[in-house]
Amino acid sequence: MRRPLVVGNWKLNGSLAENETRMQATAGALKNINQVDIGLCLPYVYLFQAQQLLANTNIMWGAQNVSQFEQGAYTACVSAEMVAEFGCQLAIVGHSERRHYSAENSAKAVMRIKRAVDAGITPIYCIGETQEEHAAGDAKRVLAEQLMALFDLDKASLEKIKSFGMDIAYEPVWAIGADQAATPELAQNMHLFIRDLLAKHDAVFAEKTRIIYGGSVTPDNAKALFEMPDIDGGLVGRASLDAHAFSSICAAALNHQVPSN
Ligand code: PGA
Repeated sequence: MRRPLVVGNWKLNGSLAENETRMQATAGALKNINQVDIGLCLPYVYLFQAQQLLANTNIMWGAQNVSQFEQGAYTACVSAEMVAEFGCQLAIVGHSERRHYSAENSAKAVMRIKRAVDAGITPIYCIGETQEEHAAGDAKRVLAEQLMALFDLDKASLEKIKSFGMDIAYEPVWAIGADQAATPELAQNMHLFIRDLLAKHDAVFAEKTRIIYGGSVTPDNAKALFEMPDIDGGLVGRASLDAHAFSSICAAALNHQVPSN
């Protein structure tokens, strides 16, 4: 049985004062939703604040990235071990905005997955095709390439990731920060494709890995998306900045039911 997961990605937003108001409002609005795993991924500098304010709530907090390096001469990098010291349970890796603005690629992302798991943090691996790739009918090839990078890791690391667990976020780049999300049918089709690909390597891993959808999730479209059998929740950007909208999205995930075999 996969528990639904809804994660807010605050991106480059917030201040100490704003965060305090937003975290308190979010925690208040979500306090009765216990059948959904809920997280907020914040800029690194606010993880200490999240630890102070979210410690006794049902909300996990996480980072928006972690370094592929463990330590050393890597100016401005932040390691998974470091964020783990602030109680992080989650880390986004491979987000399309990182791929776009900071030339990140799948090879680096899978190293970050490894570092996160080594530090006891659940990685959320973001994959998705661009508008051009989508228009060219190339989406599945791109997804397969991004996903298969995982299987280039050494066997011991891969086994560790499989037993610890990770989540995948399907985020079509054309739907991020856009007016409209992918339709539930299109997203379900892609999620099933991702799960089938994983199953070719390991059926148990494919069944237990949560595949969440990201890209313009709102309180209006969340229910229809999360009702799909392979859409195990959402990665939410803009709407996570509004406590009320975010809590409606989390509540919509209560509709996601996956039969256990
Ligand atoms: P959005 O962002 O919800 O604002 O489209 C989603 C994301 O980038 O994770």
